[in-house]
Amino acid sequence: AIDIRCLRTDTGYITYDPGYGNTGSCQSDVTFVDGENGILRYRGYPIEDIAAQGTFIETAYLLIFGELPTRAQRQEFRDILSEQELLHEGLRHHFEGFPSSGHPMAILSAVINALGCYHPDLLELSSQEDFLRAAAKIISKVRTIAAWSYRKAQGLPFMYPDPKLSYCRNFLHMMHSIPHRQFEPTDAQVRALSLFFLLHADHEQNCSCSTVRMVQSTEANLFASVSAGICALWGRLHGGANAGVIKMLEQINQGEATIPEYIERVKRKEFRLMGFGHRIYKSFDPRAKILREAAHDMLESTGYDDPLLDIALELAEVALNDEYFTERKLYPNVDFYSGIILRALNIPVNMFPVMFAIGRMPGWIAHWHEAARDGVNKIHRPRQIYTGLKPRTYIPLDSRL
Ligand code: ACO
Repeated sequence: AIDIRCLRTDTGYITYDPGYGNTGSCQSDVTFVDGENGILRYRGYPIEDIAAQGTFIETAYLLIFGELPTRAQRQEFRDILSEQELLHEGLRHHFEGFPSSGHPMAILSAVINALGCYHPDLLELSSQEDFLRAAAKIISKVRTIAAWSYRKAQGLPFMYPDPKLSYCRNFLHMMHSIPHRQFEPTDAQVRALSLFFLLHADHEQNCSCSTVRMVQSTEANLFASVSAGICALWGRLHGGANAGVIKMLEQINQGEATIPEYIERVKRKEFRLMGFGHRIYKSFDPRAKILREAAHDMLESTGYDDPLLDIALELAEVALNDEYFTERKLYPNVDFYSGIILRALNIPVNMFPVMFAIGRMPGWIAHWHEAARDGVNKIHRPRQIYTGLKPRTYIPLDSRL
């Protein structure tokens, strides 16, 4: 149950809503979520239709500009993204300063923020053209930065983007090609990656999106705001959850616990069942349904046999028939199956939240733009219920015991 109380404090009445579970922080046209009925729509389009017919780039355009692109607009957007995919050489040198063991989320947020230093003309976005340029730079370069953080960790040479390749192919090329040997993903792999990105592209006022809007409310620039969103996404309960799912499935696969034993430990509250439960979805997460099928299809078409998928399916089946989970309305969320897709694309587990960040970037940008455009400009400033000490007399240093 969500704890909401109106409390009288010394400065007036305050609505006490820990975790903001019942607080509307803004008005938004971007994404509709109905958690009771498992409905998700971007700009009015059901996620199932977007997933069946759209690509990530069309979805990014839809979220940011409000309408699906025409063929010409889609081409123009693709061209702008291709123009922006290289990093400034100065920015490339930033990678040398990070240790190889540096977490790719730390690198991603730092380099995206630093990107603003190379484009001082885009810190104040006074026109629609400037906004488009800044948005395109971030959406395009986030791939390059992400892939290079992985190459740095592996001690592999950086692969430069190839403008002939589509968004997802280009990312996989920068991740997995080696000099003179281009990585050639299958169509099914490219489709699965596009699906992964578009299903993560927005989800209204979640923690990272709210962070982006909160930072924007101070009139901070787009680069700094989305960089803060990346940090918010990093945590285990948000963008880090799919890595937790893989860890859990591997433990079961390695025989550390059987599925029933694992479930019992969750019920004893030793830990949570990762990839289960959602603050909003209380019947099912529509993204999880789509990804479950996609994971299955991709593994079948590539002939990649992953025992973790079978364990995930069985684990979900057991949990969905257990009162502990049904009473609390806990169902698989998008993260439950996404890790299986990422593994099949040879993406290491510590890159999982980075993959989420690439997908979520259009949503963060759309929300930043909406908040900036609406011009409400009310700085976000929640109140608190003070539970500390009453006033007391300051103790000089020599008198302290
Ligand atoms: N496993 C076991 N029990 C759970 C789980 C879980 N995954 N999630 C919630 N519960 C239980 C809680 O222990 C609590 O039980 P209680 O009433 O007996 O105390 C009850 O369900 C309600 O839990 P809350 O924490 O209040 O639920 P909330 O809506 O705040 O949390 C969250 C949502 C953070 C996603 C939670 O379900 C969770 O931790 N899930 C696992 C992590 C995860 O998969 N995160 C990804 C979310 S989706 C995304 O970010 C894209």
